[in-house]
Amino acid sequence: MKGNSFLQGKSGYRRSVFMECEEIDFIQELTLTSKAYDGKIGRWWGQQTDNRSHAYAYSNIANYIRSFLQNDPSLILDYACGPGNLLPHLLELFPNCQFIGMDVSALMLELAKKRLARLGTNSSGQVELIRAELPDFSLLQGKASVVIFCFPQILWDSDQKRYDENGYMHGEDTEVAKFLAASRRSNTKDAWTSDDAQMLLDSLLRGKVVSRNLRGLLKKGGICVRVEYGKAGREKLTELEQCRLAFEEGSLEKSMNGRKAEKLFAFISSTYFQSEIMEDVYYQTKDDTDRKGGYSITMLEAV
Ligand SMILES: C[S@@+](CC[C@H](N)C(=O)[O-])C[C@H]1O[C@@H](n2cnc3c(N)ncnc32)[C@H](O)[C@@H]1O
Repeated sequence: MKGNSFLQGKSGYRRSVFMECEEIDFIQELTLTSKAYDGKIGRWWGQQTDNRSHAYAYSNIANYIRSFLQNDPSLILDYACGPGNLLPHLLELFPNCQFIGMDVSALMLELAKKRLARLGTNSSGQVELIRAELPDFSLLQGKASVVIFCFPQILWDSDQKRYDENGYMHGEDTEVAKFLAASRRSNTKDAWTSDDAQMLLDSLLRGKVVSRNLRGLLKKGGICVRVEYGKAGREKLTELEQCRLAFEEGSLEKSMNGRKAEKLFAFISSTYFQSEIMEDVYYQTKDDTDRKGGYSITMLEAV
């Protein structure tokens, strides 16, 4: 299995979901990596997010971003925008802003285009949709005021080169990640306890490359908004989990085993919302403990 955040750390099992007469073996489909959202998973995501609880969540996320930002941003970038669920809500709240949605999937971008066309406004002049396999360090460096990374599930191809060339092994980061991956807690409630250290290390290092890409797209002082599924707020995570999360997003302050990871962002705040949309995770994992939860909106400032 290649990396992704819904199924991360849950190796060694195989599940399938029967939905609208289409059986989805998520593990199998996700091995298609960058093509995954052009097929069954993309059709599933399009349907799955087309309901009231998702509409409410996307509206809440957009309102949250609006109330957080004092000044009007000039460019907001939706990183891995999918079928453009968030864009209409943002367009309403930021009528003078330019938007770019980026995604690797042609199907997702087609759905986003249709969604924007249905708005019946001049949104086509305000929103540009770009097909890109992320992380991509050749695009739009230092241009955005805000970058949004919402319900991430970045699928990486087996070509390690892209990551190697963009800091997979990066100074002290490598040693910090090794330390964080190898650390274990005896508490069985620690979601990471049973994880394979090598897989965890790979996931931490790739996650950091993605964060480096998010940082590179932003102006200094720009805001990165990360929206991630979770069973509880950030403050409820164990200290080790918090350090891993902060490492991946590039906001880790603390030294680990005498070493400091590269800082890309300053942590500002994180707010947790209970939501039925946690079922998205359950659909992929079929783990009953993934039925209840919600999502966190985390604000980071580019340093
Ligand atoms: C769970 S969906 C979330 C989409 C969107 N942010 C939303 O909230 O609807 C994950 C998205 O990531 C995109 N994606 C996965 N791997 C990618 C990659 N390597 N490059 C660009 N997009 C990718 C998929 O095509 C999909 O649209």
